[in-house]
Amino acid sequence: MKFEPFELERIQSKWEHVVEINLTESGVSPITLGELIDDPRSRPFLFERSLGYSQTNGTEKLRDLISSDYAGTTRDNVLVTNGGAEANFVAAWYLLHESGTRDELVVLLPNYMQLYGIWKNLGGRVKSFHLKMQGGEWVPDMEELKDAVSERTAAVAICTPNNPTGAILDESQLKEIADITYDMNAWLLSDEIYRGVELEGPKAPSAFDYSEKVMITSSLSKAYGLPGLRLGWIATSSPETAQDIWAYTDYTTICPSTLSDHLATIALGPDVRERLEKRARERVGAHWHIMKEWLDDHHDILDYVPPKAASMCFPRYDLDIKSLDLVEKLRIEKDVLVVPGSHFGMEYYLRIGFGYEEAKLREGLRRISELMRIIS
Ligand SMILES: Cc1ncc(COP(=O)(O)O)c(C=O)c1O
Repeated sequence: MKFEPFELERIQSKWEHVVEINLTESGVSPITLGELIDDPRSRPFLFERSLGYSQTNGTEKLRDLISSDYAGTTRDNVLVTNGGAEANFVAAWYLLHESGTRDELVVLLPNYMQLYGIWKNLGGRVKSFHLKMQGGEWVPDMEELKDAVSERTAAVAICTPNNPTGAILDESQLKEIADITYDMNAWLLSDEIYRGVELEGPKAPSAFDYSEKVMITSSLSKAYGLPGLRLGWIATSSPETAQDIWAYTDYTTICPSTLSDHLATIALGPDVRERLEKRARERVGAHWHIMKEWLDDHHDILDYVPPKAASMCFPRYDLDIKSLDLVEKLRIEKDVLVVPGSHFGMEYYLRIGFGYEEAKLREGLRRISELMRIIS
């Protein structure tokens, strides 16, 4: 079977630490350990911790904190994983393995293509439905979804807030997607890693509230600025399913890192959680203004829908060059890295991250302008 590479992660893995200006990050600048534990009196405890294996599905305290975000659940609905990446991996592996003749995943595109690639690499079939630019919004095509689901659908996979568009599926859209999926007796698998980084208004709704057969994957990597902890989770509507998927992590990483489990318990404690979410929102809000001004200055080349969450934008460009070629030119000639739309399943788009350092963002955008003006 041909291996499907995860192109988005490949391009980042290869170049993000090599280029001068990296605008591929979709989160906000990570915080330091000192910022996380800002009370020096709490620090000595860290040094007393044994570095043994941790509770393999996550400590009870941490699972309690995670479950508090999903109405009607307890720690038993939660499985802690090594990042959102492992959460998605074991969810896909479980779903494909346990679903018998149901070997199809229906994926909302554009999307972080991890589930798309894993599913194919595990031997499953992938179908898709799309977010479309419509009336200044990204709107899911429900007719396409209805056509795509069938008796072979194991799960419908969405990502909300969406990577790469920053779109949020609203309550009625989530309900409709959940109903279509449930009527087909399939699972709804919702990657909600960007929840908590909304540009304005309340927290984005969770698919958890709209289906009785739902799995949420998430992590501390985006809204909390803690990607290096590699701390993620699956929250399911069924405690039995959380237990069953746990058996799959015995084969992958055995348990979360002991230190990460402990630090995550601090990060998700009520005060710190609020502080970190506020930090992410403030950063995204401030930098969006820089990004928006730049996008508007290039209205002759770029068309975009403002993101509602997350620190990235996905503009469509009107230039006669494929997105991977444009990104390669930018990297080689301007030492700037962004992600081509083709790595999200959509051509003639770019994903530009704006959540890191302001000076680099401004300089990176200036260099992108220079190249686009030469090409146009
Ligand atoms: C939508 C989405 N899901 C999962 C991940 C992986 O997250 P983590 O770094 O927690 O493994 C990412 C990373 O960018 C992402 O954008």
